[in-house]
Amino acid sequence: MSETVAKTFYLETFGCQMNAHDSEKVVGTLRQQGYRQVPTVEEAGLVLYNTCSIRDKAEQKVFNRLADYKKYRAQGKQFGVLGCVAQQEGEKIFERAPYVSLVCGSASYQNLPQMLVQLETGGQRVTGLDDRETDKCFETEYTARTNPHRGYITIIEGCDKFCAYCVVPYTRGKERSRTSVSVLEEARQLVDLGYSEIQLLGQNVNSYRDPDGKKTFAELLAAIASVAGIRRVRFTTSHPRDFGRDIVDVIDSVPALCDHVHLPVQSGSTRVLDAMQRLYTREQYLERISWIQAARRDISLTSDLIVGFPGETEREFEETLTLMDVVGYDSVFTFKYSPRPNTPALGLEDAISEAEKARRLAVLNDRQKQIGAERNRRHVGQVLEVMVEGKNPARGQWIGRTSQIKVMNFTVPNGIELTTGSYVRVRVTGSFPNSLVGEMAGA
Ligand code: 5AD
Ligand code: SF4
Repeated sequence: MSETVAKTFYLETFGCQMNAHDSEKVVGTLRQQGYRQVPTVEEAGLVLYNTCSIRDKAEQKVFNRLADYKKYRAQGKQFGVLGCVAQQEGEKIFERAPYVSLVCGSASYQNLPQMLVQLETGGQRVTGLDDRETDKCFETEYTARTNPHRGYITIIEGCDKFCAYCVVPYTRGKERSRTSVSVLEEARQLVDLGYSEIQLLGQNVNSYRDPDGKKTFAELLAAIASVAGIRRVRFTTSHPRDFGRDIVDVIDSVPALCDHVHLPVQSGSTRVLDAMQRLYTREQYLERISWIQAARRDISLTSDLIVGFPGETEREFEETLTLMDVVGYDSVFTFKYSPRPNTPALGLEDAISEAEKARRLAVLNDRQKQIGAERNRRHVGQVLEVMVEGKNPARGQWIGRTSQIKVMNFTVPNGIELTTGSYVRVRVTGSFPNSLVGEMAGA
């Protein structure tokens, strides 16, 4: 294998925003080690997958991909599995896919440079499988950012909640927060790179604890928003149990904080929430919703919902539907329950058929379509600030996002060219369940 081939890598990312951002950091780390990223497996000496195991389908996708690429083994390529499937399956991956020579979970990324050296010197079964006990965050100054408009910053890694269905506490380890000083430093660097929108990331951002004890999560939000050059600050994901009223207060008083809260409820039934070990009741969740809805700003609410959790009755499922009606989400992500290795719910009988789960999912999605359509109609006639993200030349329209993270397709007066990343004011002329349309009303 020639030196140039050996020092090239291909990386494909599956899963959530955290994974996408981890990949940006992994790419930066590899470049720093002298590797060059290439766009195809064919060109690469090292083929990496940053994997997701949140649901069975996500995991299957990874194993299918590995099987697909078996043919490349003869060409002397090296394969690595990163991320959640790596952490979950560990060395078993070497048995299932013998051509893999690196298995590394996200809690071990800071050791990647040493692992790369091991691979370069012919290492066959290189592993980074730090368990839940690591205290380290993966920080690097070499992050290779790919989203041109939104700069991601991890503020907390891991999760200590142990919801009965969820694999994350096992794949991403225990909660560990970054210092507010280092988070603010990264925010300033992002401004220098030209970003004006920042998204703070964590499995549960509300349990952020500044290791230096300087700032609460709400104070951190305000501090980031006050960094010169930052115009929009978002954060995901919130956990209802840890979501405090101070977050609503800070959104209300700091304009740069976006008017959107993603607050996954999972189920509208207190009995099911208890079985899921979510640590709140329907009423407690709705209390948090009432704080948010009492804000002066029009804060958009979105959520994650699971159907078919073991033992979920038809009546309990209907409680999720009534909760959706009461809250009036702007959009939701909906999932069929999928049994996951190591999780407590694995001990419960998954007796609801796939067909029934699919039916419940379709009912939820239909309901949300109506709610979303209704919610979006309220914007018609409003003038909203939009960050320009691109152009759809076929339709002669520009595309952007509102503070509420809604997609806006809009026209501009003849002869005007916009630049992506800039902000314009758009008058909303029409709405759909998942997007808005409008015409530019000013810069
Ligand atoms: N089955 C189905 N959905 C799940 N999620 C997490 N684990 C599972 C599972 N085992 C969903 C939750 C979570 C989102 C990221 O994925 O709704 O909020
Ligand atoms: Fe998938 Fe969860 Fe891992 Fe993200 S943290 S990649 S959603 S398993």
